[in-house]
Amino acid sequence: MKKQRKIIVGNWKMYPETSERAKEIFAAISRGVRGIKKTEVVICPPSVYLPIFKKSKSKIFSLGAQNVFWEMAGAYTGEVSTKMLSEFGAKFVIVGHSERRRLGETDEAVSKKVSAVIRAGLKAIICIGESERDVNGAYFEFLKNQIKNSLSGLRPADLQKIIIAYEPIWTIGKSYNDAMKPSDIHEMSLYIKKLLSDMYSKEIAFKVPVIYGGSAEVENAFSIMSEGQVDGLLVGHKSLVPEDFIKIVKAADVA
Ligand code: PGA
Repeated sequence: MKKQRKIIVGNWKMYPETSERAKEIFAAISRGVRGIKKTEVVICPPSVYLPIFKKSKSKIFSLGAQNVFWEMAGAYTGEVSTKMLSEFGAKFVIVGHSERRRLGETDEAVSKKVSAVIRAGLKAIICIGESERDVNGAYFEFLKNQIKNSLSGLRPADLQKIIIAYEPIWTIGKSYNDAMKPSDIHEMSLYIKKLLSDMYSKEIAFKVPVIYGGSAEVENAFSIMSEGQVDGLLVGHKSLVPEDFIKIVKAADVA
């Protein structure tokens, strides 16, 4: 099978605190990833910063948003539509991040958002992940339900427009020592692909990129992608540290 391009997504969350700093980080990353060939880099800043970066002509970079609403317009105070994000350069949208699910976002809302993103011609980075591991393996069932519900309503052709980001919540925002082990990541990515095969077909399922997130840092990036055999990483805190993020992108290019 043809090797897919790796995908490194930088999830800036609600950082940095000023647009000046955002520009500096973006410029440093842009300089550092020049020459990257086999990796797609997606930067997801807070959406108010998107217009600043829209003019970037880089072929390596794409822009993404961290959330969206499913309606196109209306009386929905505080929400932003796919069309608005798209106008300001977003090609991707992270949907169902655990930090949003913790604020009350349900699988049903995730599924509506995913459909809206795909209908708008954007790509959805759909986050799933268990909050804890139990000896009986109940997390397998939990993930199965999360995937089924978050993807409900998608037709087989829509799967070309999604990326699954597996982010075990207990590994997020720590250090590389606390990330999941590459062998376990491999097991989980196979499990996710098997679920998608059962829901759609093997052919379709194996084309859906599965990436890992949760304390991906310079120290573990290469082994997660090579031994863990995932298609890329969703990087949180280290995506705001240009020298580290650049090294992570370079690791993806050789993994
Ligand atoms: P982290 O965050 O890299 O800081 O663990 C990942 C994420 O929450 O997307």
